[in-house]
Amino acid sequence: MKIHSLVLSVGILLFTLPSMAIPSDAPSTGNSGNNQLSPKQEEVAELKACAVVVGAGFLPIANTRDQRFQGKVTEPTARCRGGQKAVQFRMTPWVDWAHYWGAGDSSSLPVGFLSVKGPQLRGVAGALLDLEYERIELIKFNLFDNAGTYQTYVEGRDGVRGPALKTWPEMRLPKDNAYYSAVGGNGEQVCKGELIRARTLTGICNDIRNPLMGSTGMPFARNVEFDTTFPDLEQTTLTKNRHGGRLGLLTPDPQVISRKLFTRSQSNPASCNAGFGLPNDSPDANCDYQKAPFFNVLAAYWIQFMTHDWFSHMDEGHNAPGDMQVGCKSELVNNVQTPLTTEEIQKLGCRPGDQVDKTYLLKDSPPEQFTMGGRTYLTRAPKTFANNNTAWWDASQLYGFDETSLKRVKRDPKDPAKMLLEPVAGMPGPGYLPVLQPGDPFAPQWKGQEAVAFPDNWSIGLSFYHNLFAREHNSFVDEFRRQAAQHPQADSGLRNPSDPKRVIRYQDVTADELFNAARLVVSAEIAKIHTTEWTPQLLYDEPLYKGMNANWSGLLGTGDPDVSKALSDVVVHGFGTSENAKKATQWYSVFASGPGIVGLGSKVSHYDITNPNDVNGGVNHFGSPFNFPEEFVTVYRLHPLVPDLIEYRDMSKDPNQIVQKVAVIETFEGKATDAMRSRGLANWGLSMGRQRLGLLTLNNHPQFLQNIHLPRLDTPTQQIDIAALDLIRDREHGVPRFNEFRRQYGLRQLTSYDDFVDQTLPADSTARKQQMETIAQLREIYGTHVCDSSKIITDAQRNPDGTPINDCLGHPNGSVVDNIEDVDTVVGLLAEYTRPHGYAISETQFVVFILNASRRLFSDRFLTSSFRPEFYTTLGVDWVNHNGPGPQMMETGAPNGHQQPVSPLKCVLMRNIPELTPELQHVINAFDPWARDRGQYYSVEWKPRPDAASDPAFK
Ligand code: HEM
Repeated sequence: MKIHSLVLSVGILLFTLPSMAIPSDAPSTGNSGNNQLSPKQEEVAELKACAVVVGAGFLPIANTRDQRFQGKVTEPTARCRGGQKAVQFRMTPWVDWAHYWGAGDSSSLPVGFLSVKGPQLRGVAGALLDLEYERIELIKFNLFDNAGTYQTYVEGRDGVRGPALKTWPEMRLPKDNAYYSAVGGNGEQVCKGELIRARTLTGICNDIRNPLMGSTGMPFARNVEFDTTFPDLEQTTLTKNRHGGRLGLLTPDPQVISRKLFTRSQSNPASCNAGFGLPNDSPDANCDYQKAPFFNVLAAYWIQFMTHDWFSHMDEGHNAPGDMQVGCKSELVNNVQTPLTTEEIQKLGCRPGDQVDKTYLLKDSPPEQFTMGGRTYLTRAPKTFANNNTAWWDASQLYGFDETSLKRVKRDPKDPAKMLLEPVAGMPGPGYLPVLQPGDPFAPQWKGQEAVAFPDNWSIGLSFYHNLFAREHNSFVDEFRRQAAQHPQADSGLRNPSDPKRVIRYQDVTADELFNAARLVVSAEIAKIHTTEWTPQLLYDEPLYKGMNANWSGLLGTGDPDVSKALSDVVVHGFGTSENAKKATQWYSVFASGPGIVGLGSKVSHYDITNPNDVNGGVNHFGSPFNFPEEFVTVYRLHPLVPDLIEYRDMSKDPNQIVQKVAVIETFEGKATDAMRSRGLANWGLSMGRQRLGLLTLNNHPQFLQNIHLPRLDTPTQQIDIAALDLIRDREHGVPRFNEFRRQYGLRQLTSYDDFVDQTLPADSTARKQQMETIAQLREIYGTHVCDSSKIITDAQRNPDGTPINDCLGHPNGSVVDNIEDVDTVVGLLAEYTRPHGYAISETQFVVFILNASRRLFSDRFLTSSFRPEFYTTLGVDWVNHNGPGPQMMETGAPNGHQQPVSPLKCVLMRNIPELTPELQHVINAFDPWARDRGQYYSVEWKPRPDAASDPAFK
């Protein structure tokens, strides 16, 4: 081992830590508010501030949740990392790092300073460290398992503190599970043999000592304290004080909110036709929507494709029996809920006759309580709900998650290692997914759709990805078979834990073994695309580019395997097994950033596939078994991403021409099959790759989703407003409302609706005026009340002076304050006009990702210690690392200053839809609109690359 490089690397890591860590009482440099300084004076002031920061040392991790970091730094820190601009916006509720040097586009770099590099390094490193700090606190304060382990998390067990626990009786397979005996039955349960070789159908045995974790049907977890859930039940004094009896399932009225705050306004409603477009897909159709210049429609469908892998409240396309009303009944008039008149209903365009099936409940009996340290806790949330999917990143939307979904997954009878694809006349390539047949299990509304494990809410975008990754699966199998033909005797890398010494040669690998290895490869590739390609484009700035690559490849990015292994040892064996809860939970994530999360613990010398410590040693659940929390589902309610019409282009004509406008709703469910087969993957790829997706903001929901017909509903209208339903479902699932949601996640609360307005915009700008108008609507819908300062409303945060937060939110007692506490979380997320540069989502959504996206990697052994040839084959590990067969290809030049590999989705697209290769030559990130000129440093300008100047999308 090269000790010197290890010392150097760890040194870099530790050196950077103190700069993030400033006690909140660090002295001020006294420059606040002075923006008259010359660049040179400003630079000197910053360096002085930096000296104060370094001298101040580590900021301790908060001991209690009300002392959290909140993404807010002291004045010297803000000045050191971002100069006067960062200082100026410290007083807003929004995170400070957005104003650090280098965290935006080229305008975020200093002008007139001696060097740009120094400030940029301070700014970007500072942003990364703020984010890491948030992650540590999120791991410490936001894990609430709903499956029965929470009490031990709080109390500990046998002298081990809760956050250091690694196994739980609640994660044992129950007696009625078919594999109960195989994992040890009544005795110690440890998965072995066939059960540990690959991803299992229902997700059991990912963690071999907690077989049930993350499997199909386990309860959704929570990220917020149990007694803050279901605020409309007002079960605690705090929730009573917070909401004052103002909330209900249909109050404020969800359809009224949808019509007033979610509807896309149309310059020419006739040419949109409520999202249906014009006959014959005429290109003259137009549905206005607010567009994100740096993110394309492929990115919208990508995330829907992902959510179908991760979670589902629904079961085979429906919810629980029993329809419920969904509003369009009342609105607030002078702070009083008042029934809507017929005229008002007509004007709004909502439908009082709409009904929908209720969400499935898992448990709603009153949860047991326990007391510790004088405080009473609930053992789970008052109601729980099952995740009817595996929680793992296992491509279960493609491969299945239970026996029923598995029956829809068709393998090629000619080579059962492959997925079945059928040739389509006149279409190039290896074919398309087969259509569901009468013998297959499927809900009536899916008739005519392509046969896939997760077929719900299907449209052209999902058809695109399912076909693409079925092809990718087969590409891997083809390459494996090619290598097997060349070197039949060579070691494939695969091993069987039941016969671990036997070398499995290429020629010995069975079709089932190869199918399973291909599944592992495809799911890891998907995780890599999401982590290193989708997310850095969703959050298009330098800190996030670095941060996401750090999650995958390691912060140090040395490419030195010795350093990586040594760091991995430090993390896994130093912290991973530590029973010191503080170390294990607080610093593990920091140190994991060194080697990267993916592959953590996989570089063990003499790896033994029969040794659970090797196979499972890299995972860390931080004391709380892994599943997605309800709050995670909330922040993925991203329906505004979808446009109403797809600007359809044809490869065989001019790619710069929009030849048709195809309504997404005309590709819904079974209609997607013909749309896909008649036009082909390449044309849809080109069309969705070039088109911008919808901004996640208010008044930007697709028209068609507000008016969708769901024939499965046995209701008067058979119609539903999905935008309104998003609010209802969150209310059914007891998600805290926006302001408490932020406090629970350690973000600073808002004190009025006006806090949403982006303070960085000039006061007289059109954008700011529009925001003010929307804020006025928020006030109209959610209302105001006369506040009572004797009512404490939260224990998750305190006022800056340390006093408890009360109903007046810092305003004088008896004043009229906004009902900001009542704002539905999805509404609040969309109202966040203040965002870091290049953020397609809000900072509140992002904080939910920081925690759960990391945990999804940390907890999965196939992405950590079982990311090995013994499971993936040698070709498989190389394929994931190099984005395909052969050596890694590099992009020419250095986009945004980085030499980088050809991105993984770009590789998948070129490999499986080679017709797209010429178009993709210009593309760095497959989720950036393909014809956009990326310009300089993280530019989000909407400008065509030279050969796309004639593309009407740029007019
Ligand atoms: C053609 C496009 C789409 C259609 C037709 C559609 C339709 C639907 C429908 C009918 C539901 C179920 C409502 C319920 O009964 O609870 C739903 C839920 C949901 N949708 Fe979409 N959707 C689309 C696109 C998207 C996209 C792009 C996203 C982005 C992530 C998304 C995220 C979600 C989420 C998170 C849920 C909740 C799922 C759950 O509770 O398990 N959808 N959608």
